[in-house]
Amino acid sequence: MTDLSPLWPARLHHIKITSDQPPVQLDFYQRVLEQEVRELSDGEWVLTGGERSFVIGRGPRNGLGYSAFAIDDAKRVADLQDFVTAQGINVQASPSPLFGPEAFAVADPDGNTLVFGTPLDDTPAKSDRLPARLQHSVVGSPNLQALTEYRRKLGFVLSDEVKDEDGNLTAVFLRSDEEHHSQAIFNTKDSKFDHFSMEATSWNDIRDWADHLGSMRIPLSWGPGRHGPGNNLFFMVCDADGNMVEVSAEIEHMDPDMAPRIWKHEPYTLNQWGVAWMRN
Ligand SMILES: [Fe+2]
Repeated sequence: MTDLSPLWPARLHHIKITSDQPPVQLDFYQRVLEQEVRELSDGEWVLTGGERSFVIGRGPRNGLGYSAFAIDDAKRVADLQDFVTAQGINVQASPSPLFGPEAFAVADPDGNTLVFGTPLDDTPAKSDRLPARLQHSVVGSPNLQALTEYRRKLGFVLSDEVKDEDGNLTAVFLRSDEEHHSQAIFNTKDSKFDHFSMEATSWNDIRDWADHLGSMRIPLSWGPGRHGPGNNLFFMVCDADGNMVEVSAEIEHMDPDMAPRIWKHEPYTLNQWGVAWMRN
């Protein structure tokens, strides 16, 4: 059995997205993703649903402010903080309004902020009309190796790698519980927010989401398809700022000690049905 960090298990609980036009983004998340919106302060809003929460903040368009991971008890959050500090990783105060006082944050070599804490609102999630639980967030980076090593130090476990013909990494998938990835990194020219994903319960949910989006004249940007790494069914749409939003189902489960696999850098890896969004 793998010696796991106190991170395990952790689930992506919410993300902060920054926008230079918050009212337009808030309208999209309220109307299209059916989120309840609450203004927190001037320039920051909390959006909640049964199984998906977001923070939208005034800032650069297409910015990922942070990715916040829920850990089920405060003691394990403290253990994780000790674990990462012992490895020389700098710990910062949590920027999240949705986690308790024990929460803390770290920043990877590209400056992507990851937050770990226990949700303040621990009431059981009520089901959404259209189910889709926030599940993973993804960045693009020219520093793929460094960002991967950083996450592995925190305790994320490598699930799959994609490599080109010369053996260079083009994508990496890491997990923090049995689900194939809660973090992924794509090789891109500049550091950027790539997309986030929400996990639905079945292929039929994907149908219902696509019907809902179509009725609102929101076109699918990619898919439907089935990813190679993760084996999940998916499609993507753009939010009001052009951030890619994924709806997924049937993501693969992996035991903590399952060895990572290597995939070839080709369209059929990113979509087994053949039509792929190649980042490079
Ligand atoms: Fe994804």
